[in-house]
Amino acid sequence: MQSKPLYRTASGHAYVGDSLELLLELPDNSIDLVLTSPPFALQRQKTYGNVEETEYVQWIMPFGLEVFRVLKESGSFVLDLGGAYRSGMPSRSLYNFRVLLAFCDEIGFHLAEDFYWFNPAKLPSPIEWVNKRKIRAKDSVNTVWWFSKTDFPKADVRKVLAPYSDRMKKLIKDPEKFYTPKKRPSGHDISAEFGKDNGGAIPSNLLSIPNTDSNSSYLRLCKELGLERHPARFPLELPAFFIKMLTDEGDVVLDIFGGSNATGFAAETLRRNWLTFETERKYLVSSVLRFLGGRKVDEARSIICGLQTSESGSAVAFLHPQNRDIEPVEPKEIRMRQIPIFNE
Ligand SMILES: C[S@@+](CC[C@H](N)C(=O)[O-])C[C@H]1O[C@@H](n2cnc3c(N)ncnc32)[C@H](O)[C@@H]1O
Repeated sequence: MQSKPLYRTASGHAYVGDSLELLLELPDNSIDLVLTSPPFALQRQKTYGNVEETEYVQWIMPFGLEVFRVLKESGSFVLDLGGAYRSGMPSRSLYNFRVLLAFCDEIGFHLAEDFYWFNPAKLPSPIEWVNKRKIRAKDSVNTVWWFSKTDFPKADVRKVLAPYSDRMKKLIKDPEKFYTPKKRPSGHDISAEFGKDNGGAIPSNLLSIPNTDSNSSYLRLCKELGLERHPARFPLELPAFFIKMLTDEGDVVLDIFGGSNATGFAAETLRRNWLTFETERKYLVSSVLRFLGGRKVDEARSIICGLQTSESGSAVAFLHPQNRDIEPVEPKEIRMRQIPIFNE
């Protein structure tokens, strides 16, 4: 890319800027996975600004078009969109479904699968309908659209097998005691293969992941250095799930609304290459803390100061060995927190 990254690691580059402009720097068919969570169409504005639900499709279309261009034929585009209510009404906005239809009908994406991210830790909202008047249930599910350019994007669900239930573990141990192969009334033919140990269960498209991280190096160092934490972070398990299922080691993962760079960090930990674009410099500056888990606070502080004050690009020196003016740090020395999420 022509633009200079704010920082880079062994496998990735983080850029400050409008992703519509940064995307133009990427060649066609060059990215394996775009995984992102844009600002949602919320009534309650977050600090980084949100678009009105009525204007949402118009706003997001140019991003979708550029993502389509840069994706490889085998690539995937995973888009997390939280639900919203219509302004002042206890009825839902259809904006996330309108985005789905527009991306498929107007851009040519395929809907490979619709996923639902259930966050059991989500607080009740909107306060008026849920807490005060008690006429709506708590909304704790985001829609996560998995788009692809063709009907057969690269994907392998065996990389994200879920732990077996206790019942299934018993069945695998002694299939004859618990199960007789037969055709079910539903028409499913359950063969003797059903009791075979495949190392885990096929995951469902309902991903139950609480967003309750309270002790990552990112949060700890943000607190110690007095930096604002990003208000809408992914739990690492969410990007990690799709990165594992949809890419191989060495593939390129891009987040066009990078925020605290959870996607980049998950990609690095899983040995994928990554690119992150984010307009708000302060979020991208503090996102470097994700990669500094093994560092002392003073060292992290000086890296942050460098990123805050330098022009984009020059602060790369902190993480890049070639610039001899500033104490070089081998990228591979950046200690990664290993996230044992799913069995590979
Ligand atoms: C929902 S947050 C993403 C959070 C991220 N998934 C994480 O785990 O931290 C959306 C981000 O998109 C950024 N953003 C909004 N418009 C943008 C644009 N045109 N280009 C790049 N980033 C943008 C916002 O500043 C915000 O940080």
